[in-house]
Amino acid sequence: MAILNILTEGDETLRKTSRKVEIINSRIHTLLDDMRETLIESGGVGLAAPQVGVLRRVVLVDNGEEILELINPEILETSGIQEDREGCLSCPNKWGIVKRPMKVKLRALDRFGKSQIYTATGLTARCFCHECDHLDGTLFLDKVERMLTPEELED
Ligand code: NI
Repeated sequence: MAILNILTEGDETLRKTSRKVEIINSRIHTLLDDMRETLIESGGVGLAAPQVGVLRRVVLVDNGEEILELINPEILETSGIQEDREGCLSCPNKWGIVKRPMKVKLRALDRFGKSQIYTATGLTARCFCHECDHLDGTLFLDKVERMLTPEELED
């Protein structure tokens, strides 16, 4: 496994649309493994392949119990609304208030190519939306209600 370099805001790759994964081969498995190591090292809760320079529809989400590997994720249903602080490994030291659905139902392939359904609320639901946005070149900065000031970040 390897720790990958995380691209930061301003890098064009973050603004591109990622392609679907057609075949889950050893390269995708290596990508998942490397992204997992990179996510753990970063201390973040989610990571999308374009953030490590790979324009494929692959994301990882740490739901607090395990790191979910989501290939070709699709949001099927959302409900409710939550407004809370959000940041991104690609936008270091920036935090803002972003509105997201409170509950999200998502379908994705796992590393064995099996279709799985995940339902999440709160932070994990937020993370599902945030990471899926990365696959379409969207950053939380595009959706932010307002950015937090350094004083607000202290609490
Ligand atoms: Ni992000």
